[in-house]
Amino acid sequence: MADRPRLTTTAGAPVADNNNAKTVGRHGPVLLEDYQLIEKLAHQNRERIPERVVHAKGWGAYGTFTVTEDITRYTRAAIFSQVGKQTEMLARFSTVAGEQGAADAERDVRGFSLKFYTEEGNWDIVGNNTPVFFVADPYKFPDFIHTQKRHPRTNMRSATAMWDFWSLCPESLHQVTILMSDRGIPTAPMFMNGYGSHTFSFWNSNDERFWVKFHFKTKQGHRHFTNREAEQVIAKSRESYQEELYSTIERGEYPKWDLFVQIMPEGEEGDFEQKTGWSAFDLTKVWPHGMYPLIKVGEMELNKNPDNYFVHIEQSAFNPSNVVPGIGFSPDRMLQGRLFSYPDAHRYRIGTHYDALEPNKPRCPVFHYHQGGEMPFGLRTNPDAYYEPNSFNGPVEDPSVKEPPHRYAGEVNRYDYRAEADHFSQPKALFNLFDDAQKERLFHNIAEAMNGIPQFIEDRQLALFDQVEPAYGAGVRQALAKVKSESDSEKQTSISTSHSASAAE
Ligand code: HEM
Repeated sequence: MADRPRLTTTAGAPVADNNNAKTVGRHGPVLLEDYQLIEKLAHQNRERIPERVVHAKGWGAYGTFTVTEDITRYTRAAIFSQVGKQTEMLARFSTVAGEQGAADAERDVRGFSLKFYTEEGNWDIVGNNTPVFFVADPYKFPDFIHTQKRHPRTNMRSATAMWDFWSLCPESLHQVTILMSDRGIPTAPMFMNGYGSHTFSFWNSNDERFWVKFHFKTKQGHRHFTNREAEQVIAKSRESYQEELYSTIERGEYPKWDLFVQIMPEGEEGDFEQKTGWSAFDLTKVWPHGMYPLIKVGEMELNKNPDNYFVHIEQSAFNPSNVVPGIGFSPDRMLQGRLFSYPDAHRYRIGTHYDALEPNKPRCPVFHYHQGGEMPFGLRTNPDAYYEPNSFNGPVEDPSVKEPPHRYAGEVNRYDYRAEADHFSQPKALFNLFDDAQKERLFHNIAEAMNGIPQFIEDRQLALFDQVEPAYGAGVRQALAKVKSESDSEKQTSISTSHSASAAE
């Protein structure tokens, strides 16, 4: 006891016995006055918070971002103010569809969330390991996610729902091709890239705006599992990412990524659309690197495991609306939808004051006039200046950080971007980058994922692959025939085995 802290109740009173309930006689009943036992049981009932509605399974660590190149001509953001400057950060990686107990090595898009604790507030990138997404309108996001989660009747994942949706949304072809390619199952978070995916904006100290895309390139190289390798990993461990990320950092082998940006001066988006047929703000499309080359900015290193997973990773709240002076949004309609969705999710999942919790707390001073609410830790208000404007030295606005105006123009309408855009050329270019072996694995992965869905959905999706490139459709058709005949003969074997087993009984 001498050098160990004394066990207390949450109110600080010392606890004499943490093993024996207070009972009448040797065996009970237990007295209601054993409030220490009641406190312990009541706390256990409240240990879980709702899991994230998407990206529930995750792994994370703290780290450092270092600027290696000067980009102050594009942005006045404090994080980029000087070559050599270092900023503390937090990363959380995740799968999209699986629940908290899901296996790590499943074929899925990976989330790539970053929080940079800059001296002008937290800047968050809430991206994925892919530069594009399945859909480009926030209206479609909840429907898309429903197809990835469990069927309401069977409570099982539904390949029919996934392919039904994808085959009705040709804009998903690019992302589906990436998901079904080798990159669909990275072996661990450090062996994949991360992308901001959306177009954001930079503005510099002359109030000039640039559209920007963020790319985090792994310095560990890309490593992936095939379906069969992933099955073997999952059979042994559902936590393979947690094990690898945690133990690599514990060993002092810190994973690193290089940050690159693509920059498009404001005003060029019209030309870009005319030349390419794609909107610079369409999340299902990339900006060709030949037109907008990657510009190196800095390096991110993960170097500290959190000492409590729940406190630092489960309670972390990433939010695309967390921008800082020098970084802004774009008209990308998906991004605009997300600006509402994340803080709303955090208030529901964590609570009103989620930004005061350790992983979310800015490392710079915070002064605002929000009042009350549940558990208002960290509300640092001057007692007499609890409204604004006031004459009692309360915090005041700073016009020097005013963002330059956006030049949006147009008629308000519900425009159908899908009808207008070319959804085939970019997946075609990606498909043609693959060598023969990569193409074979792509066909096979798609065939395994499509096996068993209704014929009319299969036909509709195959027609889309044909439109990308006839060889794409033909390859998937061939792989499907093979996968179907293999699964038919497996069924035959299991029927005959079970018949002979019952005959033996
Ligand atoms: C309109 C479209 C979208 C909506 C409404 C949406 C909504 C959400 C919500 C509600 C969460 C859970 C947040 C929480 O409880 O902490 C979430 C998590 C996440 N989303 Fe989205 N999302 C959208 C599109 C995207 C896109 C396009 C990306 C990537 C480019 C993305 C990446 C992520 C990531 C990485 C997480 C996990 C954040 C974390 O690590 O805590 N989402 N999304």
